[in-house]
Amino acid sequence: MLDMLLRNATLPDGRRGIDIAIKDGRIAELGQGIEAEARLSLDAEGKLVSPPFVDSHFHLDSTLSAGRKRINESGTLLEGIDIWADLVKELTPEDIKERARRLCHWSIARGCLAIRSHVDITDESLTAVEALLELRQELKPWLDLQLVAFPQNGFFRFQRSRDHMERALDKGVDVVGGIPHFERTMTEGAASLRVLCDIASERGLLVDIHCDETDDPLSRHIETLAAETQRHGLQGRVAGSHLTSMHSMDNYYVSKLLPLMRESGVAGVANPLINIAIQGRHDTYPKRRGLMRVKEMRAAGIPVAFGHDCVMDPWYGLGSHDMLEVAHMAVHVGHMTGAEEMRECYRAVTSAGAEVLHLESYGLEPGCNADMVVLQAHDPIEAIRLRATRLFVIRRGEVIAASAPTNVNLTLGNEAHRVDFLAPRPA
Ligand code: FE2
Repeated sequence: MLDMLLRNATLPDGRRGIDIAIKDGRIAELGQGIEAEARLSLDAEGKLVSPPFVDSHFHLDSTLSAGRKRINESGTLLEGIDIWADLVKELTPEDIKERARRLCHWSIARGCLAIRSHVDITDESLTAVEALLELRQELKPWLDLQLVAFPQNGFFRFQRSRDHMERALDKGVDVVGGIPHFERTMTEGAASLRVLCDIASERGLLVDIHCDETDDPLSRHIETLAAETQRHGLQGRVAGSHLTSMHSMDNYYVSKLLPLMRESGVAGVANPLINIAIQGRHDTYPKRRGLMRVKEMRAAGIPVAFGHDCVMDPWYGLGSHDMLEVAHMAVHVGHMTGAEEMRECYRAVTSAGAEVLHLESYGLEPGCNADMVVLQAHDPIEAIRLRATRLFVIRRGEVIAASAPTNVNLTLGNEAHRVDFLAPRPA
């Protein structure tokens, strides 16, 4: 007896009429015309069934704190860092957990079942680290939470970062973080990357660096990160988050950089909502977009995933943790409106993220975890266009979230219409 049989799914790769058999929390079989008894039978009615969304870059400690202390009036990264520095002094574990938990509930409801969250390690008592480690454990059955030790005020610029980093990792934080463009000098930024890669290498951990989150075309820490990745043999284990300076770099230099990144196996994690809101703030007109060169990076064979980065915090006052909103923004800001390019943006919030996070047993294949989302859309492009309703969110074979389909009853004179915004389909 199966635990669940999900019938008539369309998969992100275009396969249609697929049944998914689930037993003991895993996908037992996947194909057309599966005949078997199941405790629960669900009909996807030809809708898109996708592996869950993955948020490759977030900040759970600051989320849902927008407006506390003050609003970020300039909209800049640096004013956000200033507000956060004031706020962080008075945070309690209860407050952090309550806000982060609420955000995680939003995430699960939206079908995002894995989040990589940076956590500020500046605070002497590591309050946020403790709170989020507890939350990671509490939510483990439903959400894969991966934590990055993030020295928000700089690794060298803030004196005790080394000690705090080691303590956070000892406590069980998963990934080594950094912020080289915020160190006092370019030299210190590069030096911080050497030390951080040393630490990751010694401990066998992944690395995710806030790297070159600036409009300065000469902010080139990504080349040091690529070189250090190679020197330490960390290929496939390192991500450069933001990389917004790539947007402003000289094209000739980028033609040298892309192959270096490719060789080193460094992945890029773009944050389209936040990059378009924060970058270019010192420009008059034209204003730069500040998104890493996603299209060119993919063409060069560099993995790229997307993150939400912020929801209602000192850096960004909007958002509801919807990874389809992130993909939607990337399509526009990155000029990725070609059909394959839009599918690429969908992968950046699903499978590409799973690879960056090294998630095990992710995907829609026999043997994988039975984690999936049924969307009110017929394919990934329609899902992005509509930021489609998540009809069902399934974790280890259990339905953990359900939403009514989005329909509008329209009455025009004597005629009644039902509007669902889905595109007409060929018969
Ligand atoms: Fe970030």
